[in-house]
Amino acid sequence: MDTHVPSKAREIQLAAHVEGSGRAAPEHFLVAEVEVPEPAPGEVVVRLDHLFVAAAYQDLMRPDCPLPVPPFQIGGRVGGGEVGTVVVSRSEALAVGDLVQTAGGWAEYTVGPAEHFHRLDRDLFPSSAHYLNQGPTAYYGMADIARVGEGDVVFVSGAAGGVGSLAGQIARLRGAKKVIGSAGSKEKVAYLVDTLGYDAAFDYHDGPVVDRLRELAPDGIDVFFDNVGGEQFEAAVQVASPHARFALCGALSGQIGQGGGAPRLDLMTAITKHLELRPFATYHTPEQIQAWTEHFAGWLAEGRFVFPQTVVEGGIEAAPKALLALLDGHHRGNVVVSLRS
Ligand SMILES: NC(=O)c1ccc[n+]([C@@H]2O[C@H](COP(=O)([O-])OP(=O)(O)OC[C@H]3O[C@@H](n4cnc5c(N)ncnc54)[C@H](OP(=O)(O)O)[C@@H]3O)[C@@H](O)[C@H]2O)c1
Repeated sequence: MDTHVPSKAREIQLAAHVEGSGRAAPEHFLVAEVEVPEPAPGEVVVRLDHLFVAAAYQDLMRPDCPLPVPPFQIGGRVGGGEVGTVVVSRSEALAVGDLVQTAGGWAEYTVGPAEHFHRLDRDLFPSSAHYLNQGPTAYYGMADIARVGEGDVVFVSGAAGGVGSLAGQIARLRGAKKVIGSAGSKEKVAYLVDTLGYDAAFDYHDGPVVDRLRELAPDGIDVFFDNVGGEQFEAAVQVASPHARFALCGALSGQIGQGGGAPRLDLMTAITKHLELRPFATYHTPEQIQAWTEHFAGWLAEGRFVFPQTVVEGGIEAAPKALLALLDGHHRGNVVVSLRS
């Protein structure tokens, strides 16, 4: 194994905040060459192999970020999920060659206390990039918040994205009777049905969402896993069955779209149907990560799960473009930038 550490390496920094309801653009990022510091006692040097890319990173680039995690700082790194290999260790907790996960941001090398790195099993998945995904959120939302189970009719909005592409499969494997997904293009709709095993899917641009849902779920929906908000939430309230459970995970139409995220709640309908509306924000507790990882590894090994992943090549400078393409709807599933194969 190559354990050479260069004196300098590149990282992606936040050059400017995304202001107001603006969109992230190339000028918000800086590819900076920085010194790789010598590790202090108790620290390790990690060569990063894969960088995660998520829609929420744009929110974290805003000065008034509403998410319950610290936003990115100007001059600090962008990003928040990476997998890499320990190449120098001054800690007994980690050895050279260990595969680790961290959340320090997009960089070629990262140095820090061993406790900032979580050791991973290199043999659990076909690739170490499989560790970078939205599964803890999707699994927690489906299993614990929506409590999806046998016989449920389920609707997932944003179904071809990082969270949604996993959420629909989780619902099916937990016994849902019918899983319906929405996405933003014909290609994604075909992908949901042909590859991910959704029973039905529709493009949310094709007329009123409430009409599409009534056609596809004539007896109503029991579970709604919402990544989008806006019109899709409003439609789901109308088509919900009595006592339907709503796991409210994201508001992409407002986060990425132009202000469409804030839906109107038809309160009388929600009241008379006894809807259970549960917004949630996960902090990916060790228990949530473990619950997901065990199921994910098992389902993959049994050939019952497709891992929807887009791997972007091109080195670290490809990471900002990968995020911009994700926001524009050009990627599907969980997106990683691979720094080495
Ligand atoms: N609650 C939590 O704890 C938690 C944790 C993680 C993530 N989240 C949230 O979960 C949601 C999904 O996250 P993700 O990382 O999986 O994102 P993602 O779905 O991969 O986001 C990218 C997708 O957003 C869709 N999109 C763009 N503009 C849209 C619009 N105007 N209306 C509807 N969809 C639009 C595009 O898909 P189409 O081409 O299909 O439009 C695009 O491919 C986000 O809201 C995120 O913040 C919540």
